[in-house]
Amino acid sequence: MKHLNRYDNILDLIGKTPMVKLRKMSEYAQTPVYAKMECFNPGQSVKDRIAYHMINRAEMDGKLRPGSTIIEATSGNTGFSIAMISAMKGYKCILTVKDKASEDKIKMIKALGAEVVRCPSSVPGDHPDSYYSRAIQLSESIPNSYYLNQNYDKGNSEAHYLTTGPEIWEQSEGRITHFVASASTGGTLSGAGKFLKERNEGIQIYGVDSEASILKQYHETGTYTMPTKSSSLEGVGKNIIPANVNFDIIDKFIRVSDRDSSMAARYLARTEGIMAGFSSGAVLAALWQIRSHINPGDFLVVLFPDHGSRYLTKIYDPEWLKSMGFLNGSKAEETIAEKKVIRH
Ligand SMILES: Cc1ncc(COP(=O)(O)O)c(C=O)c1O
Repeated sequence: MKHLNRYDNILDLIGKTPMVKLRKMSEYAQTPVYAKMECFNPGQSVKDRIAYHMINRAEMDGKLRPGSTIIEATSGNTGFSIAMISAMKGYKCILTVKDKASEDKIKMIKALGAEVVRCPSSVPGDHPDSYYSRAIQLSESIPNSYYLNQNYDKGNSEAHYLTTGPEIWEQSEGRITHFVASASTGGTLSGAGKFLKERNEGIQIYGVDSEASILKQYHETGTYTMPTKSSSLEGVGKNIIPANVNFDIIDKFIRVSDRDSSMAARYLARTEGIMAGFSSGAVLAALWQIRSHINPGDFLVVLFPDHGSRYLTKIYDPEWLKSMGFLNGSKAEETIAEKKVIRH
């Protein structure tokens, strides 16, 4: 049949993202390393998949009706996806957002007509001012509203089990040996990881965690203490244990620093021509931590959740890097810092 590349609406473009070989990384690893490029979704991030699946399910369950308001707590990308779908389907949309979310993301969400409520990042998840608590309060006070709740609604990981996992399996022609993805709600890692493990239980599933998160600690010890460090990474790590993290299928969590993640993303842009987001840098920094576990003949798939254009005022801004103490401003030092990340 003739393929016209013509669609009924923007939502038909969600998923089926391309996989691209990382030339330099494959050279270093002496084996193929591919990146699943989630910025090719119409909302430019991996979150289109879960927002679409969760909203479709809520409609089928009668939880969303014409005139409903969709509410969600989101650091930005899920918000953009929900705002895009709400605009297309005619729902009102209110998003509670951590104040560390980039300005770029907030402006984009507002451009789609959604309302944004900023909440402090520094408070624990159960604090009344946290972005989770604010979302619950709003859903309780607004009639005909529905809180999607991406951390606890299993529709999140289910979306990845049904789409991301099968796509990766097919695109690697069943050759995948390692899957590396960052975890925040854990939906991507757990959903895609579960599908891949069911196909071949030998596939290693690596989660990427931040220095301000409890996921790695909880995976290794079954308990946690709140970290004292903070992180400016978005979409890496959590200070709660979301129901969407399936700890049983994760082989190991790798913890990465904000600095290494920034430098790795910048290195990726300059060596592969792929301008990816902050969490993609985190995934790349993690890849270098596990390089001694990679053998010729392996087939690695890393997942890059979004595009770098959402981080122009963060990792792609030398002034921001300087303010974070990641470099002191000279070009030479920046290059050295980048090299250290990949060869440390
Ligand atoms: C930029 C970015 N990277 C990675 C993730 C992590 O995805 P998940 O929530 O499926 O663990 C998110 C989710 O918040 C994100 O926004």
